Amino acid sequence: MSSKEAEVLPPHVLIFPLPAQGHMNPMLNLTQLLCLSNFHVTFIASEFNHRRLLKHTNILSTLARYPGLQFQTIPDGLPDDHPRAGQRSMEIVWSVLNIMGPCFKKMMIEKELFASAGRRPVTCIIADGVLSFAGDFAEERGIPLIYFRTMNACAFWAYFCTDRLVEAKQIPFQENGMDELVKCIPGMDGLLRCRDLPSFCRVDDANDPTLTELLILTRQTVRAKALIMNTFEDLEQPALSNILKHIPRLYTIGPVNTHLKSRLTENKNNHSTPSASLWAEDRSCIDWLNAQKPKSVIYVSFGSLTTVTREQLLEFWHGLVNSNHRFLWVMRPGSVEGSHIPSELDKGTKENGYMVEWAPQEEVLNHPAVGGFFTHSGWNSTLESIVAGVPMICWPYFGDQMVNSRFVSEVWKIGVDIKDSCDRVLIENAVREVLEVRKDEFLERADHLAKMAKMAISEGGSSYRNLNGLMEYIRSFII
Ligand code: UDX
Repeated sequence: MSSKEAEVLPPHVLIFPLPAQGHMNPMLNLTQLLCLSNFHVTFIASEFNHRRLLKHTNILSTLARYPGLQFQTIPDGLPDDHPRAGQRSMEIVWSVLNIMGPCFKKMMIEKELFASAGRRPVTCIIADGVLSFAGDFAEERGIPLIYFRTMNACAFWAYFCTDRLVEAKQIPFQENGMDELVKCIPGMDGLLRCRDLPSFCRVDDANDPTLTELLILTRQTVRAKALIMNTFEDLEQPALSNILKHIPRLYTIGPVNTHLKSRLTENKNNHSTPSASLWAEDRSCIDWLNAQKPKSVIYVSFGSLTTVTREQLLEFWHGLVNSNHRFLWVMRPGSVEGSHIPSELDKGTKENGYMVEWAPQEEVLNHPAVGGFFTHSGWNSTLESIVAGVPMICWPYFGDQMVNSRFVSEVWKIGVDIKDSCDRVLIENAVREVLEVRKDEFLERADHLAKMAKMAISEGGSSYRNLNGLMEYIRSFII
């Protein structure tokens, strides 16, 4: 390649998410947005997830249409039969840091930063915010680093302020102090109770190793040149302003899935937005929804990592059945701890609802029959529900979900938060509240937020401008 040819080559961005569904989805969307603007992208996936994408989706063949995109795989360090869910979810993070990290560095060096004919060596790394080794490597090699945090700004800000809570001795808190209001998180005084803090704050000892490690991983985010978040300015302005005091640049580009769809239309590009599901989507639920009345169905899904006990499952089920509303329930394989789905539940569900192992979630949430979402409050699910204008019942499981659910119920006021309880009567009442009692007020606000989300990604909107700004910034690294 002549030096003249090299000069006109586009930037080459390396994108590296934590290998979990909720982290991969938004970072794959960003990948496609960059490819649409002719960037070269190398996307790092774990071997385990890459195999599952090949098995369950056509994403890899669809994305092969982008000439600038290549996938590289690295082992995540866990055996194939590891559950990668539930109480063992954090083992993904530790294994990635300890095993995937060194493999990544070795590969980057051996493959000379993925340079090839017609492709520059990597000019910018966009890594998941928890991948501290990507930051170390970028610093060692002088490659510009941008972190992508897949949680929302409010939750990130709460994580960021956790060491202040430790200093102020608000952590550890006692079981009977769970409803005490938290101080020391600017902008959230009088809002968050101890029970609304990220679940890793529920420790007996302020030096708890998981809490300590997560604080370090959160704090190291600020060494990046910029931070990307899958949210939009009007939704989380106060938290975003606070974060911006600690990071040089902040690009909110969300809702990134809707953003991608809209840019594909704008570019008159007939690429579809393929699913990146790690499980096979069961589309029969769409036929079932087609036969239901408008806004009559509660969609139940707890994301990609949550597991529930048999007792919790039965409480959910009785609550849903007793509400007399129809439900579509995603029961991910392996999501019920230690047992198979009780047979009475399977039979009863056939009379009252529909059950699938994995659903095309965005399509489900946008279906006219869906009137509410019983969710674990993962950020992708929450944002997808906001865009679709669907009110929520929040049963957060861990991590950032504790904060998200508080914001859904108390700030955005588009649903109810039933965290820390799992009782059939409570669930029955929550379903009634969302689909009957407070239906109109929730729908009105949800509809307003959905409009704001769509404005953010339309030409001239904040996320639209920020994505352009981000691309401009990445281009500036090669000038
Ligand atoms: C977790 C955290 O909760 C989240 O906040 C963090 O930012 C990423 O990791 P997860 O449990 O995977 O995420 O939940 P969520 O963030 O909601 O992501 C789940 C994704 O799977 C969503 O994009 C959802 O659309 C998709 N999904 C879920 C399906 O496509 N089909 C299903 O049946 C269920």
